[in-house]
Amino acid sequence: MEVAKVLISEEEIAAKLAEMGKQISADYANEDLLMVGVLKGAFIVMADLARHVDLPVEFDFMAVSSYGAATQTSGVVRILKDLDQEIAGRNVLIVEDIIDSGLTLSYLMKSLRVRRPKSLEVATLLLKKDIQRVPIDTKYVGFEIGPEFVVGYGLDYAGKYRNLPYVGLME
Ligand code: IMP
Ligand code: MG
Repeated sequence: MEVAKVLISEEEIAAKLAEMGKQISADYANEDLLMVGVLKGAFIVMADLARHVDLPVEFDFMAVSSYGAATQTSGVVRILKDLDQEIAGRNVLIVEDIIDSGLTLSYLMKSLRVRRPKSLEVATLLLKKDIQRVPIDTKYVGFEIGPEFVVGYGLDYAGKYRNLPYVGLME
């Protein structure tokens, strides 16, 4: 596979997810917790983060796709796969690969909030610094990065590179 330049190494990601998992385990100790992965991008983060969460947590997934131009999100999101379960009264933690404009997540959170979860928080591996077009209150952030386009660890370019074991910059 053509290799992208390493921005965040496998080792750095592993250490960060272990730390995030430990924090989540402490914050939700003795609480019910449902972790919700946003497909497809979050599938690797979810799998690796989940193994550092030492709680009887449950999992669900949503799949969304944004309408409009290819590289810029419009903020209007279509739910391709909804949650399998009700979230009323539950602690919900959305797991994301990356927050860019924040529009996707903002829309998603709005549509989940009306279902009246007990709490609704976000854990993301990557946050593009200072370019959110809507404020997103992100409880757990792995790494803050610049505005550059990254691939790997779940993130794709035209559907490819999700399986790179690190976060890379396209050459
Ligand atoms: P938003 O702009 O925060 O709504 O991000 C929407 C989606 O765009 C993210 O969930 C990713 O799937 C994708 N995305 C944003 N930035 C990148 C990137 O640097 N690489 C790959 N995908 C990205
Ligand atoms: Mg995504």
